[in-house]
Amino acid sequence: MEVLGNGLRRLLLNSRNSSALKNCHAATFTRLMSSGQQLEYIIKDVKGEKKNVGLIQLNRRKALNALCDGLMSEVGQVLKEFEADKNIGCIVLTGMDKAFAAGADIKEMEGQNFSDVWYNSFLSQWNSVEQCKKPIIAAVNGYALGGGCELAMMCDIIYAGEKAQFGQPEITLGTIPGAGGTQRLTKAIGKSKAMELILTADRMSAVDAERAGLVSKVFPVDQLVDEAIKTAEKISSYSKITTAMCKEAVNASYEMSLKEGLHFEKRIFHASFATDDRKEGMTAFSEKRKPNFTDS
Ligand code: CAA
Repeated sequence: MEVLGNGLRRLLLNSRNSSALKNCHAATFTRLMSSGQQLEYIIKDVKGEKKNVGLIQLNRRKALNALCDGLMSEVGQVLKEFEADKNIGCIVLTGMDKAFAAGADIKEMEGQNFSDVWYNSFLSQWNSVEQCKKPIIAAVNGYALGGGCELAMMCDIIYAGEKAQFGQPEITLGTIPGAGGTQRLTKAIGKSKAMELILTADRMSAVDAERAGLVSKVFPVDQLVDEAIKTAEKISSYSKITTAMCKEAVNASYEMSLKEGLHFEKRIFHASFATDDRKEGMTAFSEKRKPNFTDS
């Protein structure tokens, strides 16, 4: 597997003539890597006293975690594994001190033309992050630029280290944010601030991002991941089915009018009465004991 993987990798790196071909090799390469459980661009771990927190660390250090095709394939693969793991209730996604991620891989994009990105549905595999049913906390240290900022915004909660910087510099490359930046950033911080960041390519500090509502908490750099894991453990201690219901209902507010959203929320609230965990939660309250959720 190792030999085959390296061979394909060389082929991928050398095939500069056709970017479509390059993508094709990248997909094959990462499929083989995933099925062999070898990860090249990320580190997978399980954390928490009860081993109920999935941790993904982006680990493409030399390129400041530029989000190449292979890296995002691995993120999607590991998210699927965490979703299938009944013990895991929450996931933390982090990078390194200098960079959460410096954006989509510019060198990978450079040679592509319109038909390459159109026919390959370029970046569509990033959808695995927003489609994950379990909550994801982005723990952002350093640069979260372009696709890096967008990846953080696909997550459910953003915690930032004091030196984190958020931005959408795509305009400097002659393109626009392509993984949700124009939409999610605007919803998170409002039109004027989002427009300013996107049109100027200026960066927003962690403190300003918290003030603007993009980030929920700021921590010293070296405490960030531990704090994210603590929060993830707390979330994991609740019923996983109720957690998924909360996530779906909050996310629905992005897409529905207030009237539709309130109706949807009521339906999910009513549906929670069909779960064992709703009964257990309320019974435990009455009996003055801790609930024992079974995720059913
Ligand atoms: N893609 C590919 N490679 C990248 C990269 C990216 N987004 N960001 C950094 N790198 C690489 C650099 O090319 C460099 O590699 P080499 O050593 O081989 O030259 C290495 O990472 C280190 O980068 P720098 O030397 O530039 O480090 P720095 O500390 O001087 O600067 C930085 C850091 C300000 C983040 C700078 O690297 C930078 O501006 N990066 C690009 C940021 C950007 O424009 N992001 C948006 C990408 S487009 C996008 O994301 C589209 C979308 O919406 C999905």
